[in-house]
Amino acid sequence: MNNFLVKIILMALLIQTIHGAEKYDDKTFRVITKLCGKCHGTPFYFAVQKDEDSWMEYFEDDQTLIDVHKKDPQALKNVQSKRFKYFRKDILKFFLDNSQYSGAVHGCDANFCGAHH
Ligand code: HEC
Repeated sequence: MNNFLVKIILMALLIQTIHGAEKYDDKTFRVITKLCGKCHGTPFYFAVQKDEDSWMEYFEDDQTLIDVHKKDPQALKNVQSKRFKYFRKDILKFFLDNSQYSGAVHGCDANFCGAHH
């Protein structure tokens, strides 16, 4: 294969990767899976269980999520982690984007969830 072709192919792959990543926030998806998924299910499933207002309330100040998880050391550790703090805004945005009534394509019902990728 000549060099030119290789470059074109690499370029096409790169564009596809960037494009794919924009469909939804892949990185945040993984962070939520890691920090919350064990107890709350997949991020899309979790997000759609609450409406925008509820998510705003839970994220209004740091204390709310800590209070909610007071009895659960593992959860407490996660919501107080550096990682959570670092991604806090992105996590909230993800939840809002995929919340109940948001009409997100990824929305799901009790049986089927977030399998669009
Ligand atoms: C180790 C398990 C665990 C982890 C990890 C965890 N939670 Fe929870 N979470 C719980 C439990 C248990 C409750 C209380 C459920 C109840 O009272 O019905 C809860 C409740 C909540 C609630 C209150 C509303 C509801 O659905 O009951 C929110 C919001 C919430 N968690 C968000 C999060 C977020 C965001 C993360 C990740 C950063 C997270 N949780 C990680 C166990 C966990």
